[in-house]
Amino acid sequence: MCGIVAYIGTKNAYPILIKGLKRLEYRGYDSAGVALKVNGNTEIYKKKGKVSELENFCADKNTFSNIGIAHTRWATHGEPNDINAHPHRSMKGHFTIIHNGIIENYERLKKDLAAKNYSFYGETDSEILANLIEYMYVEDGMRSAEVAVRMALTRVVGAYGLVVMCNNEPNKLIAARKSSPLAIGLGEGEYYLASDATPIVEYTRNVVYLNDSDVAILTPDSFTLKTVQKDEEITPDVQRIEMSVGELEKNGFDHFMLKEIFDQPRTIADSFRGRIHPETKEVFLGGLNEVMPRIAEAKRIIIIACGTSWHAALIGEYLVEEYAQVPVEVEYASEYRYRRPIIREDDVVLAISQSGETADTLAAIRLAKEKGALVLGICNVVGSSIARETHAGIYTHAGVEIGVASTKAFTAQVTVLTLLAMRLARVHKAISDERYYNVINDLMAIPDKINLVLEKHEQIKQIAEKYKDNDNALYLGRGYLFPVALEGALKLKEISYIHAEGYAAGEMKHGPIALVDSNIPVVVVAAKDRYYEKVVSNIQEVKARKGNIIAVVTEGDSLLRDMVEDIMEIPKSDEVVTPLLAVVPLQLFAYYISVSRGCDVDQPRNLAKSVTVE
Ligand code: AGP
Ligand code: GLU
Repeated sequence: MCGIVAYIGTKNAYPILIKGLKRLEYRGYDSAGVALKVNGNTEIYKKKGKVSELENFCADKNTFSNIGIAHTRWATHGEPNDINAHPHRSMKGHFTIIHNGIIENYERLKKDLAAKNYSFYGETDSEILANLIEYMYVEDGMRSAEVAVRMALTRVVGAYGLVVMCNNEPNKLIAARKSSPLAIGLGEGEYYLASDATPIVEYTRNVVYLNDSDVAILTPDSFTLKTVQKDEEITPDVQRIEMSVGELEKNGFDHFMLKEIFDQPRTIADSFRGRIHPETKEVFLGGLNEVMPRIAEAKRIIIIACGTSWHAALIGEYLVEEYAQVPVEVEYASEYRYRRPIIREDDVVLAISQSGETADTLAAIRLAKEKGALVLGICNVVGSSIARETHAGIYTHAGVEIGVASTKAFTAQVTVLTLLAMRLARVHKAISDERYYNVINDLMAIPDKINLVLEKHEQIKQIAEKYKDNDNALYLGRGYLFPVALEGALKLKEISYIHAEGYAAGEMKHGPIALVDSNIPVVVVAAKDRYYEKVVSNIQEVKARKGNIIAVVTEGDSLLRDMVEDIMEIPKSDEVVTPLLAVVPLQLFAYYISVSRGCDVDQPRNLAKSVTVE
């Protein structure tokens, strides 16, 4: 959610900052701004809207500076407008800051500052923080910006990714983090700061991810790391980033989402590559090796996630319960963290998250850790908070996902969950060899089969054209394909703003069937699996009420071909890996509808890629 970019060094900061903000655009935002040191003065330029609007606004300004901070805002306090956009300047002008996150006790702080004659120009919590830092600074005799920042942060409740410039210490940036990610790229006599590694990767591969409560003090040739609480230097943990700049480009596709849908044969293969023994076909999950004995003894597994990752979790539940015979519960992180759940020391809590930064998921794993459970993560973003805060985990290797609507991260999560379920099934000796080899072989065949689905994209586009003007849609599925129905509905909803509901097909007669008439398209995921006959009956029920049916079917299904309006075919596959195939036409269907309705596919309204506030 929202983004931070900052630079200190010898280059011209402005183009680096703008390019960096554009790299972060995928995270979602409503306004953008930059602060630069021009001829000794701190100039702030900010604008509601896209980064390109900020660029236009700056076109005739002097923007040359060797230091700068830049921000894309996703408003939490105060409407998105030019005034509330970041950077924010403190009242006396000593400090300029950019802030991601929420200062939860800002009203109290605001009152206290107002009592000291501070006044404010906007409505954000961030402006209060800028002033709190200034107040500390002035009270302390304007001795040290670093001390002022650290003192102010001891009084703050909430989340922050923060970068601060101080007028009296012009060649310095102070950065801090709590619950809102911040990475620092280490160059030669220069530093790059950003909310994630995407703006940094083209300049350096050496990165330090700040931990909660870390404060970094940067000059062009020094990097000092301390914590908010302690005035002691700590040694930064420098990591290598592996992503390539190419991953951040559209590579000829019209949108990132389309590129990412087409990436899936490769990203699924990347997610199982090296994890299945070429001869024995045994699954090996290096990240879980040390904790496997404890996982094997777990009485239950609780999977925590949000959104699309939650849909992947449901597939994981079905897989692990059926094949490993271990009880599984799937929870929305936002509910779990507040509902006082029972968590025991012999529970395994597994968080699934593409970004690894989702605030609710992060809070839920912290709770589980406190209660003594073993906490695991399935994350896509390497070095993300969830990846770092879990005891152990598995990366999904989907590569950078930029489209706000998750596609390749979902299929990578399902791939990894399939591997995990198969590994646990072996550990518990709960699966027959025949079943095991079938699942593994069919999983390995998925990338080629997805290519066959992708080849039919034109046909899916034509179907999308037919239904693009509908205001509602129902998605139905059963068994392993029920979460696929939920995911299909979410995709359509997110990017085309069509109201879509996903249901377990068997639930239809308990309510949603009342919606069915000749106006509503009903998308049924009806592959040939153990539920097929039941799903066909559900299709009959919809037909009897004149609903228009679009069915995802197994190739060669002549029964359904004759029965429904439109079909999208997928190759035959073992039912437990069929979700990986069945979701692809639904992703394409949502994509083409979104394009033909003229929606912003990659950055749908009101959404953010990485939801770092609860
Ligand atoms: C997916 O299309 C959504 N944009 C959203 O539901 C997402 O899956 C959710 O916010 C969870 O994100 P995470 O996987 O990064 O934790
Ligand atoms: N809470 C701050 C605001 O509303 C920062 C939001 C953000 O993270 O972009 O301005």
